[in-house]
Amino acid sequence: MKVSGNTILITGGTSGIGEELAKRFLTLGNTVIVTGRDAAKLDRLKKEQPALHTIQSDASDPTAIEALYETVTRRFPKLNVLINNAGIMRKINLQDNSGDLKDIGLEIETNLLGVIRMVKQFLPHLKQQSEAGIVNVTSGLAFSPFPISPVYSASKAGLHSFTQSLRVQLKNTRIKVFELAPPAVETPLANAFDASDTKGGPPMMKVDKLVDHAIKGIRRDQLQIMPGFSRVLNLLGRALPKLAVRMASAPVDAMLAQTKS
Ligand SMILES: NC(=O)c1ccc[n+]([C@@H]2O[C@H](COP(=O)([O-])OP(=O)(O)OC[C@H]3O[C@@H](n4cnc5c(N)ncnc54)[C@H](OP(=O)(O)O)[C@@H]3O)[C@@H](O)[C@H]2O)c1
Repeated sequence: MKVSGNTILITGGTSGIGEELAKRFLTLGNTVIVTGRDAAKLDRLKKEQPALHTIQSDASDPTAIEALYETVTRRFPKLNVLINNAGIMRKINLQDNSGDLKDIGLEIETNLLGVIRMVKQFLPHLKQQSEAGIVNVTSGLAFSPFPISPVYSASKAGLHSFTQSLRVQLKNTRIKVFELAPPAVETPLANAFDASDTKGGPPMMKVDKLVDHAIKGIRRDQLQIMPGFSRVLNLLGRALPKLAVRMASAPVDAMLAQTKS
């Protein structure tokens, strides 16, 4: 689809991949609206990029999604692209007895349910546009899990599945459904991890390179965008699934050694 002249809403656009996508789409001549939870991050970005539109909104909160829809469609009735990018990723030791039942599901609420709710809310509006797109940002870990981030991996596998169903269900509309599955990318998302957690893994991709792949893929109507090591994980996860899990399991030993029960 075209990559200029759109009106694009990017959830989680104040950092990392979302911020780089926002800046790049702005340069390409699009109207770009970004969301995030943290007002300070939104203010900083607005100062740096005055042409960007920023709205504080929590993608894991259904009431906030309803309010976001009202605001965005009133202020930007030409909205035709939704990029579901907001995401969180934590290390979680399932044998650790701390934490509660609400906390354990945060990645599902944000990365999976948040996207499903955004799609449900914005779909009627997107269907009215002459050309429209939904881009769901999954991960290479959608294809094979990283066992020290079990809930994150499950959220992305779920989002990969949802995106395939969505694409089929929208086949009689003008909406193109893209999946962007990044490999490990240098962004603040990695701050929760130690160097030992990713030792021996593939090198991290620069965020501008990832966004080059994303924009090229969208322009070419490549619905499944799997740059770098994500493509390897996609193949390995299907051809040699046990090996793929074993390769990503080394950091579990250190995690188990620190278990608090
Ligand atoms: N970096 C990687 O290696 C990698 C690899 C594969 C996939 N991905 C995916 O790429 C996406 C972007 O990640 P990133 O690496 O760019 O991470 P990041 O730098 O941490 O950025 C995450 C963005 O999401 C926002 N966010 C988080 N929770 C939110 C919520 N509930 N509501 C609204 N905004 C929320 C954050 O802002 P606030 O904190 O202010 O809300 C921030 O703008 C995520 O879906 C991630 O899973 C990343």
